[in-house]
Amino acid sequence: MEDVLVLIVGAGPAGLATAACLSQLSIPYVIVERENCSAPLWRKHMYDRLKLHLAKEFCELPHMSYPLDTPTYIPKSTFIKYLDDYIECFQIQPRYLTVVESSTYDIDRKYWSVVARDIDNCTIVNYMAKFLVVASGENSAKNIPAVPGLENFTGVSIHSSSYKSGITYSGRNVLVVGSGNSGMEIAYDLASHGANTSIVIRSPVHVMTKEIIRLGMTLVRRLPMKMVDGLVVMMANFKFGDLSRYGIMRPKKGPFALKSENGRSAVIDVGTIDLIKKGNIKVQGEITKIKGKTIEFQVGNEGSFDAIVFATGYKSTANMWLKNGDDLLNTEGLPKKEFPDHWKGETMLYCAGFARRGLAGIAMDAKNIANDIKHNIESMSG
Ligand SMILES: Cc1cc2nc3c(=O)[nH]c(=O)nc-3n(C[C@H](O)[C@H](O)[C@H](O)COP(=O)(O)OP(=O)(O)OC[C@H]3O[C@@H](n4cnc5c(N)ncnc54)[C@H](O)[C@@H]3O)c2cc1C
Ligand SMILES: *[C@@H]1O[C@H](CO)[C@@H](O)[C@H](O)[C@H]1NC(C)=O
Ligand SMILES: *[C@@H]1O[C@H](CO)[C@@H](O)[C@H](O)[C@H]1NC(C)=O
Ligand SMILES: *[C@@H]1O[C@H](CO)[C@@H](O)[C@H](O)[C@H]1NC(C)=O
Ligand SMILES: *[C@@H]1O[C@H](CO)[C@@H](O)[C@H](O)[C@H]1NC(C)=O
Repeated sequence: MEDVLVLIVGAGPAGLATAACLSQLSIPYVIVERENCSAPLWRKHMYDRLKLHLAKEFCELPHMSYPLDTPTYIPKSTFIKYLDDYIECFQIQPRYLTVVESSTYDIDRKYWSVVARDIDNCTIVNYMAKFLVVASGENSAKNIPAVPGLENFTGVSIHSSSYKSGITYSGRNVLVVGSGNSGMEIAYDLASHGANTSIVIRSPVHVMTKEIIRLGMTLVRRLPMKMVDGLVVMMANFKFGDLSRYGIMRPKKGPFALKSENGRSAVIDVGTIDLIKKGNIKVQGEITKIKGKTIEFQVGNEGSFDAIVFATGYKSTANMWLKNGDDLLNTEGLPKKEFPDHWKGETMLYCAGFARRGLAGIAMDAKNIANDIKHNIESMSG
């Protein structure tokens, strides 16, 4: 049994940011990570051509700016370099290959009892922590929807977290399922590598440019959200025209309203729309059935496909190991309380990186959590 003051679960950007904020306040902590490196989502599970979708001023972690010559839209490799520098600067030493399997709060003795498995040597590690920070991410497990016949699909089926580049799909018939940022960009990547590409777009989506979003994010700090939503939708309509005849509907609510209500991001176009308009990427409705290589869609279309890429998002898994945390997280492992009160539970329990607000939200959470822990330590000793 190891006695620690603060235990951070997860060494992605949120765990690292919390670690940095704690060390700035000279508060000791231990940070554990199930994989063999920090930020594995970025190092192992993102496609090659990815750049941060938001401008760099919205993507900084606390206490460290990007070098001045960093491009506005940061490539994946530059972001990973920034994380490496961050880890070095704050001397963060995650304990890798350590999976937290359960956390129970001991009400009488007022500490978290945490059981972790060391996957390297198959041993159990027990921690006793005064404070517990859940930083295991909104993207902890792949989400693949139930599709009738998928188990009998005779082509290759992968999740977007395993997709690297379209280079291996040249000349193949490929279907992308999901029309968020990943799905739209992967479709573009496939088509530009010569794959015969189709994309399933099931629900309405706001298509924007990165410049329009950057302008909106800047304006929304000062102007009413409704006004900004009206403005960016007008600009996007001017830029893209009416996309409904291509099967892309615009939601009734504005992009910033949707983002703040349910965390759904607008799609930032990387060139996909142009390929859809040219017919290089075909838009399909929902899948109704899969048989062999044949996939049937709503409205009676069907096609033969060699591969399916599910860009259908991720889910949290914190609910599977966090016991007595129901004041903080719901049964889906997401915060119960709304932003900006989402990060703090009752029993010295916190979550970082669950506000559906990307890296900017992570930076806010990390600072709030470290300051609150400091405050609690002071009032315990005073
Ligand atoms: C494709 C994609 C693009 C994105 N682009 C942007 C962008 O441009 N700008 C932006 O602001 N945001 C972006 N995001 C959103 C967000 O910033 C990232 O997902 C970010 O990595 C979230 O950081 P995190 O630390 O909360 O979660 P993660 O990076 O997922 O880190 C959580 C860590 O916890 C570990 N873990 C989970 N369970 C356990 C356990 N039981 N025990 C031990 N360890 C555990 C995981 O292995 C993981 O390393 C993007 C997300 C995706 C998926
Ligand atoms: C992590 O594991 C992968 C294989 O899953 C391996 O390729 C990689 O080199 C390892 N990284 C580190 C830092 O050990
Ligand atoms: C397992 O690994 C941990 C940490 O890496 C180490 O402290 C422990 O001694 C190891 N146990 C065995 C049985 O090798
Ligand atoms: C998948 O194939 C199995 C065995 O051939 C069959 O029993 C099952 O009904 C098929 N599933 C679907 C959804 O078609
Ligand atoms: C490309 O995919 C579409 C949609 O599935 C299909 O109709 C078409 O025949 C495919 N083209 C080739 C050359 O395979």
